[in-house]
Amino acid sequence: MNTSGIPQSGIRVIYHEALKYGDAIHLEIGDPDLPTPSFVIDSACEALQKGYTHYTHNAGLLELREEISRYYSRKYGASYDPERNVIVTAGSTEALFLTLLALLDVGDEVLIPDPGYPSYLAMIAAARGRVRRYPLREEEGFEVNPEDVAENITPRTKAVIVNNPNNPTGSVTPPEKLREVARIAAESGAYLIADEVYENIVYEGERFRSFSEFREFRDRIIVVNSFSKSYAMTGWRLGFAVTGNEEIIKTMTKLQEGVVACVPAAFQKAGIKVLMEGDTVIQEMVKEYRRRRDKALEILSEAEGISFVKPKGTFYVFVNISKYAKNSMEFSLNLLRNHRVATAPGISFGPNSEGYIRISYATSISNVEEGVKRLVSHLKTLK
Ligand SMILES: Cc1ncc(COP(=O)(O)O)c(C=O)c1O
Repeated sequence: MNTSGIPQSGIRVIYHEALKYGDAIHLEIGDPDLPTPSFVIDSACEALQKGYTHYTHNAGLLELREEISRYYSRKYGASYDPERNVIVTAGSTEALFLTLLALLDVGDEVLIPDPGYPSYLAMIAAARGRVRRYPLREEEGFEVNPEDVAENITPRTKAVIVNNPNNPTGSVTPPEKLREVARIAAESGAYLIADEVYENIVYEGERFRSFSEFREFRDRIIVVNSFSKSYAMTGWRLGFAVTGNEEIIKTMTKLQEGVVACVPAAFQKAGIKVLMEGDTVIQEMVKEYRRRRDKALEILSEAEGISFVKPKGTFYVFVNISKYAKNSMEFSLNLLRNHRVATAPGISFGPNSEGYIRISYATSISNVEEGVKRLVSHLKTLK
């Protein structure tokens, strides 16, 4: 397979470079530093002791699928049949991958956001699809603009990916716009893949609104989600997809047999526990991320010549540094070499994202404070 069209992740370039300096502050990586809650670890250990050490159903333990179904009913009033509308996957990464494999024929187009999560590129390439992008604009708070989606849909568009809350910008798009995007996709014959892995890390607004709430489009919408970000469980590789479209789940389940067969049984058991009892943990984590966000923004506000949109969700802030540098990779490398702070260059998130850097505050508040201060000092030297 020719992968020359897939650029190496700019985040990894910086991360590998930063590892050369033992003392670098890592603001480039989107992996929560907080520990997985101990009751979740205990639950997995107990499951292993009890013999959950074998294969499970390709779609995951039925009891976990039932719990996922209850979760969506409780949170979003959505109705998903555990046996027909839910599949458990190795992180949302595999949920996205299986969805794309299930939907795409060779050469089909997938619309992705720019700025957007870089791993979509490899997944779409592996599913033999083609990438098209729709812009998220700083002046619109990086919210999804339905007109931009409509303008970029072509007769070959098989799927539109919406990532809400959005990595790397921290934007949260309001439900009226989301519903409009779902309608546009459905009318053009495309599916809507909703990447909602940051659904629980939201700071502003009444409550997060999921694509699963739009019942009229439930056969056209696939929601992918994960335990990774909500519960600091990135290494567990536990995620899932829900959709009203039974055929898609059937195809994904068939494909699952040839990919990982199933997710480790004991981790699935822990997933049940965390869905049942994890709400308080989320509240505490979000409180901590909010503290870090506010600290980062407070320091950034002191800098001249940059701009950013206050993140409403995730643990990222996307900073416009175009008055200082046109090449974000060079900017991030210089910042790292001169001040030992690693940031993710905007260009990693799409061509429209050049001139920005992403700061992750999924690290300790002291790292956030020191790292952002060094960034601001660096900017002063560039004046
Ligand atoms: C937007 C987005 N989607 C999906 C993922 C994949 O997460 P996981 O496979 O751990 O669920 C990430 C991870 O950073 C992400 O930022």
